Amino acid sequence: MNAPGGDNAPSSTGATVGGNPAQKLWGGRFAEGTDALVEAFTESVSFDRRLWRQDIAGSSAHARMLAKIGVLSADDAAAIVAGLAAIHDQIAAGDFVWQQTLEDVHMNIEAALTARIGDAGKRLHTGRSRNDQIATDLRLYVRDAIDELAAVIDTLAAALLDLAEREADSIMPGFTHLQIAQPVSFGHHLLAWREQILRDRTRLLDTRKRANVLPLGSAALAGTVYPLDRHYVAELLGFEAVSENSLDAVSDRDFAIEFVSACALLMVHLSRWSEELILWSSPMFGFIKLPDRFCTGSSIMPQKKNPDVPELVRGKSGRVIGDLNALLVLMKGQPLAYNRDNQEDKLPLFDAHDTVNACLRVFAAMMPSLNLQRDVCRAAAAKGFSTATDFADYLVRKGLPFRDAHHACGSAVAYAVDKQCDLAELSLEELQRFSKLVEADVFSYITLEASLAARQTYGGTAPSQVRAAIARARQSGSR
Ligand code: ARG
Repeated sequence: MNAPGGDNAPSSTGATVGGNPAQKLWGGRFAEGTDALVEAFTESVSFDRRLWRQDIAGSSAHARMLAKIGVLSADDAAAIVAGLAAIHDQIAAGDFVWQQTLEDVHMNIEAALTARIGDAGKRLHTGRSRNDQIATDLRLYVRDAIDELAAVIDTLAAALLDLAEREADSIMPGFTHLQIAQPVSFGHHLLAWREQILRDRTRLLDTRKRANVLPLGSAALAGTVYPLDRHYVAELLGFEAVSENSLDAVSDRDFAIEFVSACALLMVHLSRWSEELILWSSPMFGFIKLPDRFCTGSSIMPQKKNPDVPELVRGKSGRVIGDLNALLVLMKGQPLAYNRDNQEDKLPLFDAHDTVNACLRVFAAMMPSLNLQRDVCRAAAAKGFSTATDFADYLVRKGLPFRDAHHACGSAVAYAVDKQCDLAELSLEELQRFSKLVEADVFSYITLEASLAARQTYGGTAPSQVRAAIARARQSGSR
């Protein structure tokens, strides 16, 4: 029988790892090595190694600044910067050996640096703490993640714009309460989706402004005795400002929460699209066909072609909402300043980033091959009296107050329901029973095409308006 937790679970038998506490970068005041169980419990290098690029960039800037203010010699700083560059290449090549005994990404890199360049490596951590170091790494990470996601949103938004152009004249039923409401252009529906992710994009970029503030120089929590040139570091790392308060700077994770919050809302949008794609691709609707290469089959039912991609996107939205919740709860009980709880911010942050990235990419790849079944869509729009409002508006044009027109039209609909036909299939005489104002021209108002074309409001569904919206989008360069 395996022990709980499996064969490799660390055990607390009193055994310590490494034996000698002096092996730890912080081991000076310790009389015994770390318990094996505690070492495995507290380590973060298994996941925070992902921050290696940001960590190296931050350390190089710190070293250059220390030389600028005369705390490091020019030779030491040059050795540090070159050593870090070599470690960068080593990690990028997959040749770096990460060690759990060294706890986190910061100490793994620092130890490798010292092994490479000797004493100069030991001088790097002057005037710095892992508390301001991790806060800096994370802000750099969030900044990079936002830039990456904004670019993927651009690709997806561009795909929607092209598809909307192709389908500007395609008619589908617009729904409210999931009941057929009024006919709309399929292109218009796609542009509605696009609006959602363009707002997500602006939310991400707005978050970027607040993330783009340098915490380094706050040291552990109180600032440091060295006359650090924080503005120089900010300039080297592309930060727009330096943090105002050292206690706040090492403890603040608002930027991570904002980022994951923007991710969660974005996922809510993708989840709503997914719900529609799933409904539309069901034979009960039959509005679209998803390309085979984006679907999977059933192991038992040979006829099945399942919309797994949108189903998974809808499912993954729950993960990202959970990530946001994890971060909010992580922070809510923390006193100032840094607490080790913060180590737990990384997995939700990375997970939200990865999940959104993957979902955006798979949708961007799938959208161009969305196969609209135009005839099915149009036929569905012709059902459910979707042009009833147009009949009422026709009567208003002829002088009837809207409330009376609404009533007359309602009676006509009830009559057509009984007769099991559409309004446009009633004869002129039949329609005239509901209002004497009806004339032969009524039939040019209550067709699907007329209904759509009449909705000329700015931002409305008339195909000409849809094309105008597309032209505006292309002209403004807004993706
Ligand atoms: N692994 C830590 C984190 O992710 C780094 C900072 C640790 N600081 C400390 N004093 N133990 O937040």
